[in-house]
Amino acid sequence: MNRKPIFAANWKMNKGAQETEDFVKGFLSRIRSQDLPADMVIAPPFISLPKLSELLRGPGAEQCAQSIQIAAQNCSQFDSGAYTGEVSVLMLREYFVHYVIIGHSERRSIYGETDEVINAKLKKAREANLKPIFCIGETLAERESGKLESVLRTQVTDGLKGLSEKDMLDTVIAYEPVWAIGTGVTATSEQAQEAHAFVRSLVAEIYGEDVASKVRIQYGGSVKPGNAAELMACPDIDGALIGGASLDPQSFFEIIQNGSGVAVDA
Ligand code: PGA
Repeated sequence: MNRKPIFAANWKMNKGAQETEDFVKGFLSRIRSQDLPADMVIAPPFISLPKLSELLRGPGAEQCAQSIQIAAQNCSQFDSGAYTGEVSVLMLREYFVHYVIIGHSERRSIYGETDEVINAKLKKAREANLKPIFCIGETLAERESGKLESVLRTQVTDGLKGLSEKDMLDTVIAYEPVWAIGTGVTATSEQAQEAHAFVRSLVAEIYGEDVASKVRIQYGGSVKPGNAAELMACPDIDGALIGGASLDPQSFFEIIQNGSGVAVDA
């Protein structure tokens, strides 16, 4: 199946405007000289979105900057109003935001986002024609107590409730085992492939085999230049959502290069 890999940098609460500019300069200088056969996405903190969109879409933006898509790390499930601290999907659209990360495990565990809230956010994102990067994944305790499949089933079915086939095709799923996020421990390629194949089968149960075969499923959790090739070689892994290792332009570039099978210059 021909699914274009998608690599997304999730900067979390890192990089204000100045550091965003430094990163973009460094990253563009690398992709300018090498065409990478992958979709590339950067998700900065909200406050750095204006700077990122100016650098990538502004009047002076370089040609190669167009190949990078802009993402937000979260969005509100509401349109506007008395929601202190929140950002709406329409506000994001003003900054050329194309993707939005929804349901990241840090949003679930630290901010208490439930599958119901995540479902509402996915619907709101689709209303504004944003492409969700919908995150799912189990904790170590859940995996060790044999609940991997039931946890993923609930997250997928409750998260996607009411989304159309078109919505599904415009959504990227990110499978991120919580125990692998920011810990330096990566799932083995066998563990990751097994979970990805299961997630794809869940999508097939809801939307059918054809849709499931087209949906991209990223792996996330301690992806680095050194493990990207092996993970991305798995048949059901279609890219990565990268936290720590995406903060450095060289490292993010190498992950994309290694993960999309581009020969590395000696
Ligand atoms: P990590 O984060 O690459 O630092 O493990 C991944 C993520 O949380 O998306």
